[in-house]
Amino acid sequence: MELAARLCEGVAEWRDPDAVVEAARQWLAGFFAPVAPEQRGAVFVAVAGGEVVGLVSVNTHRHFTGPVEAYIGELVVAPHAVRGGVGRRLLGAAEEWARGRGVRHLTLETAAGNATARRFYAAVGYREEAVRFTRVLDQ
Ligand SMILES: CC(C)(COP(=O)(O)OP(=O)(O)OC[C@H]1O[C@@H](n2cnc3c(N)ncnc32)[C@H](O)[C@@H]1OP(=O)(O)O)[C@@H](O)C(=O)NCCC(=O)NCCS
Repeated sequence: MELAARLCEGVAEWRDPDAVVEAARQWLAGFFAPVAPEQRGAVFVAVAGGEVVGLVSVNTHRHFTGPVEAYIGELVVAPHAVRGGVGRRLLGAAEEWARGRGVRHLTLETAAGNATARRFYAAVGYREEAVRFTRVLDQ
């Protein structure tokens, strides 16, 4: 939950970063709530020296074109542990989980302004699929 504070990286200037972090915390808490087995996702944590240094959450959802696919909700590595391969290994764990469910795609979203995450995902084999545009309306 402490690491969730890093999930507002690159968030658009017109969004409330505190609300982003609060939403991420609630999504993570949701993973520990009782749900039907077929709706159950997974959270993998990376531990080094007895300390949690990263986490990834993954679940399934139905893509609008029909197939069920895996979706990564949160991926975060502690600041002092970045660039050590933790993010890559966490994604690997999520990918294994997804393969075990027989889905063909693993998707995720990140902020357009999160240059580090975009470089990271490209480096580990993810391809950009969609871009969301927002216009801030004058009141
Ligand atoms: C994005 C994040 C998860 C990457 O985790 P990490 O443990 O540092 O990533 P890895 O060490 O496994 O990096 C794998 C490869 O990604 C690329 N990469 C990672 N960080 C990079 C950076 N800052 N700049 C350029 N390339 C980068 C590199 O190719 C790297 O391989 P290399 O170190 O051998 O060159 C981490 O920076 C983070 O927690 N950011 C804040 C939270 C966040 O933005 N999460 C994603 C939003 S959903």
